[in-house]
Amino acid sequence: MVVTIYDPLPDPINLERVLSDGRFRQVWTSNECVVKELKPKTTKHIGSLSFYIPTSLYTRIAYGIRDFNEYERACYERISAGMPDDMRGSFSVIHEVRRIRNQSFSIGELVVDYNGHISKTLRQHGPVSDDYFWTRMSNIVEYMVRRGIPLLDIGAHNIMVKVFDDGHKIPVFIDYKKMGPQTYPAQFWLRFPGQIERRIRRRFEKLKGEFKER
Ligand SMILES: Nc1ncnc2c1ncn2[C@@H]1O[C@H](COP(=O)(O)OP(=O)(O)OP(=O)(O)O)[C@@H](O)[C@H]1O
Ligand SMILES: [Mg+2]
Repeated sequence: MVVTIYDPLPDPINLERVLSDGRFRQVWTSNECVVKELKPKTTKHIGSLSFYIPTSLYTRIAYGIRDFNEYERACYERISAGMPDDMRGSFSVIHEVRRIRNQSFSIGELVVDYNGHISKTLRQHGPVSDDYFWTRMSNIVEYMVRRGIPLLDIGAHNIMVKVFDDGHKIPVFIDYKKMGPQTYPAQFWLRFPGQIERRIRRRFEKLKGEFKER
C-alpha cells in the first residue's frame, strides 16, 4: 500500500514500505529515498499504565529537543562539515526535513548495495570479514574523536553494511539523532571530560569483538 502525503509544494511524499517502527519514528522507503516520519504520538509506560503523549512534548521534556528530525539534520551537518571526501560515503545524506500539516518528515539517501537491494544493518548482516570495512570503521572513529563529534549511539542497528560489486563492504552510518550528552540525560557522567571519547572507543571495540570475522 502506498500512502500519499499531500504537500502543496513541490511534490507529494509517497510512503511505500515500512522499514522500521520505532518509538519516535516510523521509517519508510519512498521514491528510492528513505523517509523518517516523526510519530505524532508516543507511548509512555508508568508501571502497568500506558499513556499517549505528543512526541514533540515528550522529547522536549526528556531531551530539550522538539523535533528529532531537525536535530538529526543539524547533527548531520556538523558531522559532514569539512569531512574528507573519501569518508562521505560512510554517512547517509539527509536531503531535507519537511513539515507537512505540522508533522515532520526527514528525507534522505536510501543505502543500497551494488545490485539495488537495500543494504542490511550490521546486526542483520552478521559478522564481516572484509578488512577494508574495519579499517574504514577505525578511520571514522578517529575522525569523530579528532573533531569532537559526540555521536553516542554507535551500534550494529545504526550502521549499514553496503556491498560493492567487487565484494568490498563499507560501513554506512544512518542514525545521528543521539548526539551530545543531552540525548542521554540520565548518564550524567557523559558530561565529564574524556567520557565521550571513551564511550565512542568502547562502542567501536565492542562492535569489533562481536562482528569482526577472523
Ligand atoms: N538511509 C537508510 N537506508 C536504508 N535503511 C535505513 C536508512 N535509515 C534507516 N534505515 C532502516 O530503518 C531502521 C531505523 O532507522 P533509524 O535508526 O534511523 O530510525 P530511528 O527512528 O532512529 O530508530 P531507532 O530509534 O530504533 O534507532 C534502520 O535500522 C534501518 O533498517
Ligand atoms: Mg536507530
